Parts: sequence; C-alpha cells; structure tokens
Amino acid sequence: MSTSQLAQTLKGSEIIKIGAEINELKRQGQQIANLTIGDFDSNIYPIPDELKQGIIDAYQHNQTNYPPAEGVAALRQEVSAFLKKHFGLDYNANQILISSGSRPLIYSTFLALIDKGDKVVYPVPSWNNNHYCHLTSAEEVQIITRAEHDFMPTADDIRPHLKGATLLALCSPLNPTGTMFDKKDLEEICDLVIEENKNRLPGEKPLYMMYDQIYSMLTFNKEHVDPVTLRPELKDYVIYIDGISKCLAATGVRVGWGFGPEKIIGQMRSIVGHMGAWAPKPEQVATAEFLKTEQPLNNYLAKFKSEIQTSLTTLYDGFQQLKAEGFSVDAIEPMGAIYLTVKVDYIGRTTPTGEILNSSADINFYLIKEAKVALVPFSAFGTDDSITWFRASVGTCTHEEIRQMIPRIKDALAKLK
Ligand SMILES: Cc1ncc(COP(=O)(O)O)c(C=O)c1O
Repeated sequence: MSTSQLAQTLKGSEIIKIGAEINELKRQGQQIANLTIGDFDSNIYPIPDELKQGIIDAYQHNQTNYPPAEGVAALRQEVSAFLKKHFGLDYNANQILISSGSRPLIYSTFLALIDKGDKVVYPVPSWNNNHYCHLTSAEEVQIITRAEHDFMPTADDIRPHLKGATLLALCSPLNPTGTMFDKKDLEEICDLVIEENKNRLPGEKPLYMMYDQIYSMLTFNKEHVDPVTLRPELKDYVIYIDGISKCLAATGVRVGWGFGPEKIIGQMRSIVGHMGAWAPKPEQVATAEFLKTEQPLNNYLAKFKSEIQTSLTTLYDGFQQLKAEGFSVDAIEPMGAIYLTVKVDYIGRTTPTGEILNSSADINFYLIKEAKVALVPFSAFGTDDSITWFRASVGTCTHEEIRQMIPRIKDALAKLK
C-alpha cells in the first residue's frame, strides 16, 4: 500500500534498534546497564513531591477541559517570572507558548520558519535536527564538530555556511555530549548571525536561531549562556526551547515552553493547536503552582543535580582510570545535562569469538554482550560510524550500578585482541 514520500523516507531511531537488542538479552535473563535513553528511572529520580501532589489536586479540582491554545495564563506568567529570575530574560506571557513537552515546540519552530529547500544549519553530533529537517523538507547543513572543542561548534566552523540560511539550530548543554558553550564562542556565533542579517534584503527571510536550553538548569560548575542575554539585538531572531522534562525529571509529565518574538510564537501556537499538542491542563496548573514556590524548586534541583553529577563523575573517573591503565578509552569532563561523552577506540580489534569490530555500532554491541553496558554511538546523532565516541546517559542507573560497570568494561576490553 502506498503512503506519502515523507512517511516512506522517515528514518528510524538508532537508539530504538539498540533498545531492541537490550530487550532481547533481557528476555534471555541478562542484566544490562542501560545508558542509552535520555530519560530517568522514576523510582530513582521521581518528580518533586509538591509537583506530583499539585497534579493530583488539579485533577481533583476537575481541571480537565481543554487548556487555552497558548497554555494556561498562570503558567505563562510563572514561566515569564522564572526566565527573568534565572536567566535575566524579559519575555512577557504573550511571547511564551506552552506545549506537550518541548518536541512540539521544536517541530512548530521548524514549521513556522522553514519552507521546502530552506537551509538549516546545525552541528553534529546533535539530537533530532536531522528528523525535523526531513519533516520540513529543509536543506540540511551539518557542521562537524571536534572532540578537542568538546563537540561544540565554533564561529569558524559555522561561518562558511550561514549565507542564505534560514535557521541555525543550537543546543547547550548539548544532547548527546553533556558539554556546553563558552561565553566567548557563543558571542562570536551570535555576531555572525547579526552580521548575516545585516546583509539580508528588505522582505528577505532573516536568519533565525533556535536555542534549545532544555538542560540549562542541570549544569555543573559551568555557567549556562544564551544568545539574547549576550546579544540583546538578537531578540527578534531567537526562538528558545525549554521546559520541565529534564530539570524536574518529568519526561512523562509533558510540559514544555518556547519563547521568542510574539509574531512567531503566535504562529507556532496555531501549529501546535492544529496538532492538538497541548500540555495536559492539570499538569500545566500544577507546574504553575510549583514554579511559584521557590524553596521546593531550589531544594529539588540541589539534590537532583548533585546526584546526577555524582553519577557522571563516577563514570568519568572510571574512564580516566582505564585510560591511565593503558586502555584505548577517554571521556570529556561532564558540564551539564545527564550525559557523558566517552571514547572506546577499538575499531579493527578482534573479539574472543573471532569477530572484527568494524564500526562504533560493533563496539557498542560487543560492550552490551560482554560488559552488559549499553551506550549510544555518536553515529546515532549524525556523525560517521567510524567515530568511536559514545553517549552515556545516567538517568536510569543508581550510583552503585554505575560503579559496578567500570570493572566489567575493563574485563571486556581486555579480552579484545
Ligand atoms: C536537547 C533536547 N531537546 C528537547 C528534548 C525533548 O524533550 P521533551 O521530552 O520535553 O519533548 C530532548 C529530549 O531528549 C532533548 O534532549
């Protein structure tokens, strides 16, 4: 049966393929430490109690009809205050759109800005920009980033590609790397965008930036930076993506917010409305109440951040120890999000059963089988399969599980010839 070109050419998720492998081994009774999904085990990392109770209360108060298309007014007000307080950003409620998590905001940003064939520039590795380009028939321009620069793009990397582009899609802290922009690097990139827009003719589409800062509250000893704070003149051109999914371990609660120029936010509201991708009303009401109360938010974040940081640092230290012992591994110091970037450089080596590891996917499947640890190769985020860097996501493992992984990885690597 024939379906649309779009449907037929959609790319499946690499991570889901790895998940299938893990599930098969689990069915055979094996215990696999799953560092693949960008999610949390909600028994290890539950959402804040006050938020949970607020959601229950909202249902009990029958807050169960349609929410307003742009989001519940009280929540948009609270988000406005939150942006001012935490980032010093001035956005009023009309410049804020609530949706069912942040994905519909990303998709609606693309739909609001991109016509078929418009150029979208984004760094790789990065999360899902390729899929949103595909969905909007954009011409995608991938900027290959380097480990020496923490896999974050620089102005020099981006400069040659901005001419005529419609969207520059950036994210910090970055999924999959857990690394972040330095102030100077982001400033230089912002200046490129300002310069490029000066050269646009009247009536020509400007160059916009999408700035995904969904992990901005989860940073460790490094300050989050954002484009409009650094360059206020960019305010008409930046659409921010944010929400509670990651910073409150609330991936299943589905409350996200986008903010930016009122006209674009209004158009995104219509698109989200046609998709019906609103956040559930009780969750919106409860999130508004939760954001209002400062102490529970601060308490929650302090504990949550420290636990995630412990996991990331334990894994990082473990990889550094293996490196010091002569193993061909590496790791980049964690800066933010729930991810660690690790290198397992064993392409061309032979397993005990005689198979040669030809790609990062082969290394990954070897580690799953032999070390019972599952990572995601950066090829799932757009890099070449010969690149031996991987994402380790720590939200579904306890500290103890993470500590136990390192000796298993060591034994598995020691068996390779
Ligand atoms: C960078 C980034 N942006 C957005 C999202 C989507 O978040 P949500 O669950 O709110 O749709 C994710 C989820 O993994 C992400 O990593």
